[in-house]
Amino acid sequence: MQQVPLGKTGLQVGVAGLGSGGSSRLGQGYGLAATDSIAVVKAAFDLGVSFFDTAAVYKTESIVGEALKDHRDQVVLSTKAQIIKPGSPALGNELAPPAQIRASLEASLGNLQTDYVDVFHLHGVMPDQYDHCRNHLVPELIQMREQGKIRFFGITERFISDTNHTMLAKALNDDIWDVMMVGFNLINPSARKSVFPLTRQKGVATLIMFAVRAALSKQAALTDLLHELADQQLIEPELANAAAPLGFLTDAGAARSIMDAAYRFCRFEPGAEVILTGTGSIDHLRENIRSICDDALPDGVLRRLDDLFGHIDTVSGN
Ligand SMILES: NC(=O)c1ccc[n+]([C@@H]2O[C@H](COP(=O)([O-])OP(=O)(O)OC[C@H]3O[C@@H](n4cnc5c(N)ncnc54)[C@H](OP(=O)(O)O)[C@@H]3O)[C@@H](O)[C@H]2O)c1
Repeated sequence: MQQVPLGKTGLQVGVAGLGSGGSSRLGQGYGLAATDSIAVVKAAFDLGVSFFDTAAVYKTESIVGEALKDHRDQVVLSTKAQIIKPGSPALGNELAPPAQIRASLEASLGNLQTDYVDVFHLHGVMPDQYDHCRNHLVPELIQMREQGKIRFFGITERFISDTNHTMLAKALNDDIWDVMMVGFNLINPSARKSVFPLTRQKGVATLIMFAVRAALSKQAALTDLLHELADQQLIEPELANAAAPLGFLTDAGAARSIMDAAYRFCRFEPGAEVILTGTGSIDHLRENIRSICDDALPDGVLRRLDDLFGHIDTVSGN
């Protein structure tokens, strides 16, 4: 596994990181036994993965903790706290008080069987929720870091709604965050302009999510998304109506599949550090790690992707 620096944290991690959220949640999303999900995490470790992401809300922390309990010093653990009050709408303004964040971290430490978390994120922050995070929650994070319970501060965007990275652009004005989780994929590469130049300049680490979502793994979802973009007059209708709109990715052997191309696209983007992949299948995990560790896509393919989608910032690919 290729190693990459995690921003200026001083940590080095494998370029492919295991995500335990998404719709799969290590297979818990479709009823996999906990022992099978634990086996996925262990397989990732054996394949050289050293960055493991989870979150209180995923309910996969205890699986990650159990799988990695004998390797604590060899892995980087990343988890997250919800910044809304329990039961309130994700986009709403019923925001968590500092004590909720502390209680969330304490529960995460128990679930993860550890006494510190390497990266502790505020989870899925919307632009209008950011000031509360900075003004009310960060002081609590600082205390928890002083107590040795957190090593680095992270923040994740809600890419499904905030497709043009408004929250992260705000957060990049503050020198608070060590790590940012960024939505980025070949259909919405807008972080290239609005996030990566500043994260690179400031040494903020990036974790890439949404490399592959429904539109890059399911033909019907891709068709729907392309029609949405054509309706917005952001792509030509001919592309939306084509039988194989992304066929050029696999033609002439440039990539093994759209998914393979999607992971390699992210891996070689300057400013993209750890590429997250989530699954409940060891076969999928192997395939995805192979893609993330493969070569860059040919220049001609990258140019064509840029022509087609380089300007898109209105969809997440979900
Ligand atoms: N705002 C946030 O903080 C936020 C939001 C989203 C994600 N995340 C984090 O980022 C990680 C990555 O998220 P993501 O959005 O990129 O999605 P993901 O978790 O990587 O999910 C990928 C999906 O594709 C399927 N899949 C994976 N490999 C496959 C393969 N080779 N062939 C066919 N299907 C495959 C998986 O299901 P199978 O089990 O069937 O393989 C899963 O449903 C998450 O796990 C989570 O840790 C954070």
